Amino acid sequence: MRPPAVPLRYADLLPGDIPGLVAMIRDVFFEFMAPAYTEEGIAYFLSGLEPTALSARLASEDRFMLVAKDGDILAGAVEVRDHSHISLLFTAKDYHRRGIAKELVRLAVSRCREALPSLTAVTLNSSAFALPVYQRLGFRPTGPRQERNGMVFTPMALKLASLPERKPGDSP
Ligand SMILES: CC(C)(COP(=O)(O)OP(=O)(O)OC[C@H]1O[C@@H](n2cnc3c(N)ncnc32)[C@H](O)[C@@H]1OP(=O)(O)O)[C@@H](O)C(=O)NCCC(=O)NCCS
Repeated sequence: MRPPAVPLRYADLLPGDIPGLVAMIRDVFFEFMAPAYTEEGIAYFLSGLEPTALSARLASEDRFMLVAKDGDILAGAVEVRDHSHISLLFTAKDYHRRGIAKELVRLAVSRCREALPSLTAVTLNSSAFALPVYQRLGFRPTGPRQERNGMVFTPMALKLASLPERKPGDSP
């Protein structure tokens, strides 16, 4: 495993990041997730990774994506829809277990709460591989393992404590 040359940078996805993002997700998907999917599930997942599909998704107001970068290398990414549902979370294999997913989720949840202060939970559909990771991050299953479009997942949620009410004059 190669240590990062410089501290990782966390930022919104830029259009120029898309080729690196797609390559990273494909590699990680085939190694860690595809073995549990049917052929239909693999095709369905890959169709969502077409650069045009990805660009269109990210152009919509109800989605955002944050990335972790090590110089020019795309080391991790999280995508969120409706400021309440994590629809994608990937860390490049060489960067696993260094806290990248934890930081991406922390930043994503914080962004969701800024947009929706009354939000009570963030949800996601976990791959079998990621279940123990999400458990460590505080997510709990909300239903049984299931299959849709050939993709196997367990629905999970992270309950959010209510935020203290902001009073006029409080610093942002
Ligand atoms: C799931 C995934 C995103 C985690 O990324 P990561 O950057 O390695 O995770 P982190 O280093 O931030 O680890 C977060 C926590 O999970 C734990 N963890 C990480 N990988 C783990 C594993 N394989 N098994 C058990 N626990 C694990 C870490 O120890 C950490 O816990 P801690 O904070 O209590 O120490 C990454 O393994 C991945 O890309 N997997 C394949 C794709 C996938 O399944 N994505 C989810 C789709 S729903």
